[in-house]
Amino acid sequence: MEKTFYIETFGCQMNAHDSEKVVGTLLNTGYTQVETPEAANYIFYNTCSIRDKAEQKVFNRLQHLKNSGKNKVLAVLGCVAQQEGEKIFDRAPHVNMVVGSASYTKLPQLLVQIEQGDKRVTGLSLDTTETFDTPFTRRDNPHRAYITIIEGCDKNCSYCVVPFTRGPERSRTSESVLEEARRVAGLGYTEIQLLGQNVNSYRDPSAAGWDFSALLDAVGKVPGIRRVRFMTSHPRDFVKSIIDVIDENENLCNHVHLPVQSGSTSVLAGMQRSYSRDEYMRRIEWMKNAKRDISITTDIIVGFPGETERDFEDTLDLLEEVQYESLFAFKYSQRPNTGALKLGDHIPEEEKTRRIMILQERQRAIQLRRNADRVGRVEQVHVEGRHASLNQWIGRTSQNQTLNFSGRDTDTLLGDYVPVRVTRAGPNSLVGDAVV
Ligand code: SAH
Ligand code: SF4
Ligand code: F3S
Repeated sequence: MEKTFYIETFGCQMNAHDSEKVVGTLLNTGYTQVETPEAANYIFYNTCSIRDKAEQKVFNRLQHLKNSGKNKVLAVLGCVAQQEGEKIFDRAPHVNMVVGSASYTKLPQLLVQIEQGDKRVTGLSLDTTETFDTPFTRRDNPHRAYITIIEGCDKNCSYCVVPFTRGPERSRTSESVLEEARRVAGLGYTEIQLLGQNVNSYRDPSAAGWDFSALLDAVGKVPGIRRVRFMTSHPRDFVKSIIDVIDENENLCNHVHLPVQSGSTSVLAGMQRSYSRDEYMRRIEWMKNAKRDISITTDIIVGFPGETERDFEDTLDLLEEVQYESLFAFKYSQRPNTGALKLGDHIPEEEKTRRIMILQERQRAIQLRRNADRVGRVEQVHVEGRHASLNQWIGRTSQNQTLNFSGRDTDTLLGDYVPVRVTRAGPNSLVGDAVV
């Protein structure tokens, strides 16, 4: 059978980057990538299970392939694979491979088993100290290179499946991270995003024993690298030295994504987030007192079991207090195996919708205000694309804002860094003119 494969990826940046590594591994083993499932003999879905809707999407895809996928090899990777395991074969009997992210190092070997005629193979062990690194990573994004520094999660937030789907925390050695950073710099990348479910609990397993701040600083000093971002930070492990290195090293972007989830200390306790509102606010104060103007973004869950109107108002009030740059808001979704299951899910869907809409409206007003204050400022942007119809370049600021601009009519700006004066502001992006 011709070794053609198609891959579709759902979920977070960790999954997106895992797919880049899987693609690289497959290409290196003699497979060819094609653009549609129809053209492929091997179909991979790299799946997400963070909320029920994400999981349903995958089963819909599999349902579609019930007939057309008969003579193909169908593989389910990622978080739904790990969560559901062999039960996937019962729900979708035409699936041939079920592999969680902690087993990707075994992919080539599992594919050999399929080529030798096995109809069903699995990679579901979470009992691992390995990370999935490969020199063959095929990066999709030409402007920003993702680099995993830590896999898995040892927290037990009561709503979250990730500890079950990605296994225990495993950090890479600082030397292997730096070696990859130097490699992507050699390929022409100037921006790196360090990835982990909780980058703050990074601990170098080698004798060097670096913590996250030391690693972040060192990546920002790799020759050729001009910008370093990181995702995600857990407030509990977010220490002041992170702000100190951002203050001292201009190559580290002045943006921190610090998911709060709720502004109510009692809801935070139910979520087992292991910090109070005050403890969270202390971290915000560090950032507000920093030398650099650090933009702060967050994630919020509405409708967690037990969230009263008062708790919800505490969250609205927190938005005003912090003045976030932007946020992602989610309606609570019950997930298998998680601690919060026993609390039920008693807040009706309509009420969750009402709360999320109020929250988003409040945040929109904050963003409009913040962005209006930026008019007249000059920001250095990294050019990531072009809106041909608007005759504008798409740029991103160090604070992670989109700043589209005109005023330079060459066709060679992609990947460049350009100073841009902000002339207009919307709730979600800025518009400006290149400073010549
Ligand atoms: N490791 C990251 C989060 C990964 S999941 C962190 O700790 O911040 C991304 C976001 O999805 C979470 O921050 C949370 O806001 C949301 N989320 C996770 N589980 C959820 C659930 N069961 N229902 C609704 N939103 C959820
Ligand atoms: Fe999930 Fe909490 Fe781990 Fe984030 S820190 S991945 S929310 S368990
Ligand atoms: Fe989804 Fe797994 Fe990421 S559940 S959000 S793909 S870690």
